[in-house]
Amino acid sequence: MLAGAKDMHYFTADGRSILDGAAGMWCSNAGHNRDPIVDAIQKQAATLDYAPPFQFGHPKAFELASRIAALAPKGLEHVFFCNSGSEAVDTALKVALAYHNGRGEAGRTRLIGRERGYHGVGFGGISVGGMVNNRKMFGTLLTGVDHLPTTYDREKQAFTKGEPEYGAHFADELERIVGIHGPGTIAAVIVEPMAGSTGVLATPKGYLQKLRAICDKHGILLIFDEVITGYGRLGYAFAAERYGVLPDMITFAKGVTNGAVPMGGVLIRDEIHDSFMKGPEHVIELFHGYTYSAHPLACAAGLATLDIYREEGLFERARAMEPKWADAVMALRNEPNVVDIRTVGITAGIDLAPNKDGPGKRGFEALDSAFHDHELMMRVAGDTLCLTPPLIISESQVGEIMDKIAKVIRAVA
Ligand SMILES: Cc1ncc(COP(=O)(O)O)c(C=O)c1O
Repeated sequence: MLAGAKDMHYFTADGRSILDGAAGMWCSNAGHNRDPIVDAIQKQAATLDYAPPFQFGHPKAFELASRIAALAPKGLEHVFFCNSGSEAVDTALKVALAYHNGRGEAGRTRLIGRERGYHGVGFGGISVGGMVNNRKMFGTLLTGVDHLPTTYDREKQAFTKGEPEYGAHFADELERIVGIHGPGTIAAVIVEPMAGSTGVLATPKGYLQKLRAICDKHGILLIFDEVITGYGRLGYAFAAERYGVLPDMITFAKGVTNGAVPMGGVLIRDEIHDSFMKGPEHVIELFHGYTYSAHPLACAAGLATLDIYREEGLFERARAMEPKWADAVMALRNEPNVVDIRTVGITAGIDLAPNKDGPGKRGFEALDSAFHDHELMMRVAGDTLCLTPPLIISESQVGEIMDKIAKVIRAVA
């Protein structure tokens, strides 16, 4: 149980100070309880607590949309706000379908995700997602969904810093799927530029460029799910910039408000946005939206968060720190049961071999040991230990995390 937080630490009710190696859940990139964000939320609550987002607006919604668009690659100039990553994914998938429908290609209904992808827990997200436990209890999900193969091959990629050399060809599987169904049936492909929730899997060099080219060839929209990779995690505002690939939509959440107020959204290419804006003024352009879209408290938190990212240069800081971070994590490779380590940006996935009780038990024990015995918060995905600290982390705190992780790994050996 967590009772408080400040900067790089959580505090428990019994007074323990826990080093946050996970930015909460990949969201508090600027560290916890930052004064400017707290002030902005408090002021906003006392000024305009709520404004309906249908037919009405409020200035901070437009200001934040403009600020986010300015951070995004050129061409992604419009933002649709919602309240979580899951809603952002469902929104992007619906926009893709409606876009094709509106321009006379209503036959483009098929959606393509990827094995080991995570896109939240809405029906859209679990349908295109590739995690069996998130899917198997929930019926038939969306129909007309296919999956690309995972880009991870341990034999060829183990202990890679950054993007693996091997695996760009996994994108060619999209051609195979197009070959089965016909290009005119496919609306969109959605992928994470780095699959976070299934254990930090960076996409191989050249993979995203290949996907873009195949999508362009067949008129398919490309969506990057940047709920984790957005807002500095990979050293840039968005991973699209790191990879020099312009998707048609980017989903975001988490870091947009530093996790302080729920918010998600979709960045949308101008041409897609404009295609909806043709009807008479009184007619609703897109029958989609949420009561809490662009909630004033979230917008206030978002603006204060973006100020911190800019003033403290946190994206650049992450980029500069990446090589040292990667070296520090890789130094754990000779600890017991470590079978792979991956890093990209300020993230790391450390795979431990499962113990005799089967997959997931060693990982769970590691989480427990880290929190209770070593004052460290991390995340686990099965037997993979995931590290994604706030981007304000100091070099000495990087060392502190690695010392603690080494002790944890030995404790569960
Ligand atoms: C890539 C990605 N998409 C979507 C989501 C879902 O976000 P939320 O939990 O805010 O619905 C997550 C959450 O971790 C994510 O990592």
